[in-house]
Amino acid sequence: MSAPSVKVVDQKELSDLAIININELVTMDSKYGIPRIGSQMNQIGIIKNGAVVVRDDTIVFAGTMDEFDLQYSISEFPIVISGEKKLLSPGFVDPHTHIIFDGTRENELQMKLSGMSYIDILNAGGGILKTVKATRAAPISKLVENGHDILDHMLEYGTTTIETKSGYGLTVEDEIKSLKTIKILDKEHPVDVVSTFLGAHAVPPEYAGNTDAYIDLIISDMLPIIKEQNLAQFCDVFCEKGIFSIDQTRKILLAAKEYGMEPQIHIDEIVDTNGAQLAAELNAIQTGHLLKSNEPGLHALAEKQVVATLLPGTPFCLMLSKYAKARMMIDMGIPIAIATDLNPNCWTESMQMILSLSCYKMNMTPAEVLTASTLNSAYAIRRHNDIGSIEVGKQADLVLFGVPTHEFLPYQFGVNHVLKVIKKGEIVVDFE
Ligand code: NIG
Ligand code: FE
Repeated sequence: MSAPSVKVVDQKELSDLAIININELVTMDSKYGIPRIGSQMNQIGIIKNGAVVVRDDTIVFAGTMDEFDLQYSISEFPIVISGEKKLLSPGFVDPHTHIIFDGTRENELQMKLSGMSYIDILNAGGGILKTVKATRAAPISKLVENGHDILDHMLEYGTTTIETKSGYGLTVEDEIKSLKTIKILDKEHPVDVVSTFLGAHAVPPEYAGNTDAYIDLIISDMLPIIKEQNLAQFCDVFCEKGIFSIDQTRKILLAAKEYGMEPQIHIDEIVDTNGAQLAAELNAIQTGHLLKSNEPGLHALAEKQVVATLLPGTPFCLMLSKYAKARMMIDMGIPIAIATDLNPNCWTESMQMILSLSCYKMNMTPAEVLTASTLNSAYAIRRHNDIGSIEVGKQADLVLFGVPTHEFLPYQFGVNHVLKVIKKGEIVVDFE
C-alpha cells in the first residue's frame, strides 16, 4: 500500500506564512466553549473573507482581511497562500484509531456479505485474533512501515493529530512492541500520535477460558513496564459481552489509573452492558462506539461531561442499519467527538468520510461534525490547549480545502477536498 505522491516543500526557509482572502475561515473560536455541547456545537466561529498568519509553528493572527490589511502588507511574507473560494479549518484530530497492526482482512467482507456478524467472524478465527497472529509475527520495523503508510494517507486527507492504540499484541513483549511503534511514529512522522494501551482488546488464545489470568498479566506485568518506559497516556478496554465484563473493565482501568494512565472505554458496541454508566463512574475522558447505550447511561455521561466518541465507520463496515443516536446525545448535552476507528475491520484514513457519514447517517449538521472532528476531538485526547482551533497562540495545524464553505465539505463525499495541509507551520501536503 503506497501513498500517492505528495509534493513536500523544503521547510528551511518557511518562517512566515500568510493565508489571505479565505472565503470561509472556520476558527472554532474557544469563546463558544471547550468542549462544545448542545447548540454550541453549531458555533464554529466563521470569518468570511479571512486571513491567517503563521510564525514558526504558531498562529499569530486570525481575522478578517480588513484587520489583516491594517497590520500587515502582503509583500512582507515569503509565502502567501490564496484562500479564494476556499475553506480553511483546523487540522482534523482523529481521537480513536487502531493503526498498529500487520496483515489485512479483506476476506471478511465476503463473510459479512454472507450474513456473518462481527462475533461470528471472531469465533471463526477471524477478526481481532487473526490480526493478533500477524502482528505478533511482524518485526517492529514492519509495524513502523505500516504506520507510516497509514499516517501519510491521514495527513493527505487533512488529519494532523491522532490517538492510536496497541491491542493486537496481547503478550507483554508484543504490547510493548506496539507501544514503542507508536512512540517511533510520533517522532518520525509529521502527524502527532498520542498513545493508548489497549492490552485488554481481546483474550488471547493462550488464555482462552481464563480471562482473569490474562487480566492479572496486564495488571502485574504490562502496566508497570508501560509506566516505567512512559509508553502510554491513556488505557482502553474492549468492554463487551463475551470479551471483558463491566467488573473486569473496572478492575483494569482502576489499576491503570494508579499507573497514571487515564481511562477510556470501548462500550456498548454490540450489546448494551451498561458501559456508559461505567465510563461516567470512572470519569473517563472519552468513550467510544455507544451504539446500544441506554438512556440513563447517556444521562450519566452528560452529567460527568465524558466525551462520546462516535465511530460511524464501524456500523458502516459491519453493515448495520443502526448508528449511534447522535441527535439525542447532543440534546442531552454530551460532548460529541467523531473518529475513524481505523482498524482492519473498518479501514479508512479519511476523516472527511467520517464527517459525511456523521451527517448522512447520524443526522449531525455540517457545523457539528466540524466541531466534533477538531476542537471536541482535541479535548477528547487532552490537547485542546494546543490544537483544535485557529486562534492566536495555538499550534499552526491547518487544512485548506477546495470547497467554498463548511457545508460543502461533508456534502460532496468520497473525494479528497484537501488542497494544502500545514503542520506546525510547515506546508507538509500540497496538491495545488
Ligand atoms: O473499535 N471493537 C473493538 N475494536 C475495534 C475493532 C478491532 C478489529 O476488528 O480488529 C473497534 O471497532
Ligand atoms: Fe476502536
